[in-house]
This record gives sequence, C-alpha cells and structure tokens, in this order.
Amino acid sequence: MEAVQKSPATAKLATKVSVPFLDLPAQAAKIREEVFQSLREVTENASFVLGPKVANFEEQFAAFTGAKHCIGVNTGTSALHLALIAAGVQAGDEVITVPMTFVATSWAISYVGATPVYVDVDPVTYTMDVSQVKRRITGKTKALLPVHLYGQSADMNPLLEISEQYGIPIIEDAAQAHAAYYHDRHAGTYGLCGCFSFYPGKNLGAWGEGGALITNSDAVARRVRALRDHAQGQRYHHEEIGFNYRMDGFQGAVLGVKMKYLQRWAEARCFLAERYQKLLARLPLQLPVQAPHRRHAWHLFVVLHPKRDQIRTLLEEAGVQTGLHYPIPLHLQKAYANLGHAAGDFPMAERIGEECLTLPLFPEMTIRAQDAVVEALTDALREVEWQ
Ligand SMILES: Cc1ncc(COP(=O)(O)O)c(C=O)c1O
Repeated sequence: MEAVQKSPATAKLATKVSVPFLDLPAQAAKIREEVFQSLREVTENASFVLGPKVANFEEQFAAFTGAKHCIGVNTGTSALHLALIAAGVQAGDEVITVPMTFVATSWAISYVGATPVYVDVDPVTYTMDVSQVKRRITGKTKALLPVHLYGQSADMNPLLEISEQYGIPIIEDAAQAHAAYYHDRHAGTYGLCGCFSFYPGKNLGAWGEGGALITNSDAVARRVRALRDHAQGQRYHHEEIGFNYRMDGFQGAVLGVKMKYLQRWAEARCFLAERYQKLLARLPLQLPVQAPHRRHAWHLFVVLHPKRDQIRTLLEEAGVQTGLHYPIPLHLQKAYANLGHAAGDFPMAERIGEECLTLPLFPEMTIRAQDAVVEALTDALREVEWQ
C-alpha cells in the first residue's frame, strides 16, 4: 500500500489529547450533593411545579441582575414569547432583530404572528449594528430585539435613544448573557424585558429546560406571571389566552443552588477567555473583542477563519471538540424563506456563518486542556497554510 504523505504538523496532530467542548458532568460532580438535597426538599412537599424553590430562585436572580422582578418559565424561548406579548406585539407587526443568533430569537416573533425584520451585525462585536436600525423602522415596527450574542451585550445606548425617539420598546435576548454587563448594569435590565435561557449548556444551566424574564415594570411582571400560568391571576379566572410556561420545582431547586457559584464561574470564564486572547494573539485568526464599557460573559469563545471547516476537522482529529455558532444565518433558513432574503443580504452575518469556530471554554477547563487547544489550533493553522 502506498504510504500517505503527512506534513510535520499533521504528524504531530496524531498525538491525541482529549478536550471536550463543555464538561457538564464535571460541574455536576462538584455540586451534586447540594443539589440532591435541594431536589429532595422538592419531593418532600411535592412542589413540582413553581413553588418555593422557583420563587427563591426568582428572588436570587432578580438580585443578581439588579432587576425589580424575575419570572421563571420553562424555556428561554417562552420568555421571549411572553416578552413580546407584554410589549404589545401582535399579528402583522414587525420586530427588528438580527439574523446571526440562535433561531429561537425569531421563533418568538413568529409565535405572535409578527415578522422579523433583520439588520446585520457589527463586524467587531457581532451584535446588532445599531447604525442600520433606523432605516428599517416602519409604521409597523413594534419592538427592537437585540441579542447579546455569545455573552456580549449589544450597544444599548444608541438603541435606547431610538426606542425613546420612536416610542418602540426593547426586548433583550440575554439567553447567553448571564453575568454580562453594559456600563454598570447587568445585560437584560435596559429594555422593557430581558430574556434568559437556562438550557443545560448555558453559563447558568438547569438540569433540564428553564428560562426567565426580568423586568423593572410592575405591570409587565404581573401580566407575565399570569400568562405563564394559563393567564390566571386568580385560580380558574382566565383574563386572556394563557400558556403553560411554568418552571419546574426541580429546575428552580437546581438553579437556586447554582446561583451561589455563578459569580465564581463567570470569573473563571473571564480568566480563560483573557488567556486565550493572549495565547492566540499572534495567530492568523479573527479573535473576539470585548467592546469598551461592556463585560463579556464569555458564554462562547468564537474565532473566525476562512478555512474553518478544515481547521475544525484537524482539531477533531487532534481530540479537541469545537462548536459552530451559527453556521446558517436566519435569513437563509428554509423556515424563513417566506421573507424573501438571498445570500448577500447580510454580509457580516453570512461571514460569521462561514467562518465561525467556537473553542472549548467552560469554568472547569484546566490550564493544561486550554494549552492543548492552543497547541492543536496552532498546528492546524500551520497545516491549512501549508496546504
Ligand atoms: C440567543 C438565544 N436565544 C434564545 C434561546 C432559546 O432558549 P431555550 O433553548 O431555553 O428555549 C437560546 C438558547 O438556546 C439562545 O442562545
């Protein structure tokens, strides 16, 4: 058989390391006993739906973010859905948002019968390009829905000015932004509502599905609290069409315990992200940038490179798991073909789709594991240059 010629870099990549994209079992192991105790308490009083553990978590999360109210729900998608209803968005309306995000941002708009109107993302922060918003406003625009992508807040001050000038409320998709700040306030506290996801892989993750909406408005809090529970302010009195979007008692229990660690985990993420920045600075990659007056929550550490797929394969072969966030922007998804968009409409979102590569980053990641990622990535980049 003919010998396969390998470059020195490929030969080196044959030395296996194993770095997962995320290590949830490692996190669970550290807090398991504490969480089990809290779960046991749920079973003791059978508070399986909402109940004291959820109420306690809501209080803790409101205090953590500095919001007046927190309402726990079953998913981040539901939080976005209820936020848009609370903002008065209805069928036939338009909501300005971004095409570079997880699809649920747009689902919520579709659920109320409104149309997502996309603006491209900024080439440095990858969050909503605020300079493009005004020209997309029409008489039908009823909300602005920026996304704090990868854990970095969108540029809220210009959006707040537009919101005030046109009388259009802002709903913040903060699903990835636990412990992210814009100036001195937590992400999600600038608009009418901030919507969070506690999907297991998030910076604050449940042991199942979970979400929450935060707001400083008493009226919004009252309405959302009712809407998540079949729209009953009072039992069996339904003032409007409601939903079963309640948070499970078990998830409230898990999240309540995890709140104690959130700050520590956030610091570990920052440490690792800054370390990546230093170690990768000389490589031919576009690195993520923390914009001034923002504290990035580093939910995802995303680098850009035109040969992303090749690099990803080489890293996989070297034992390093990576992710793609997100390979197909929403305006090119089949589900949104009715919007009539084509390739070229949102060039930055499309570039991210083609070039994004998410490196492993999680609080339990060791320095050794991170060094292994850097080494494998350095070798992979050398290899793709060489090809
Ligand atoms: C930006 C963004 N928006 C919305 C969601 C939806 O959250 P969930 O999966 O909890 O419904 C997610 C989570 O995946 C997300 O990353």
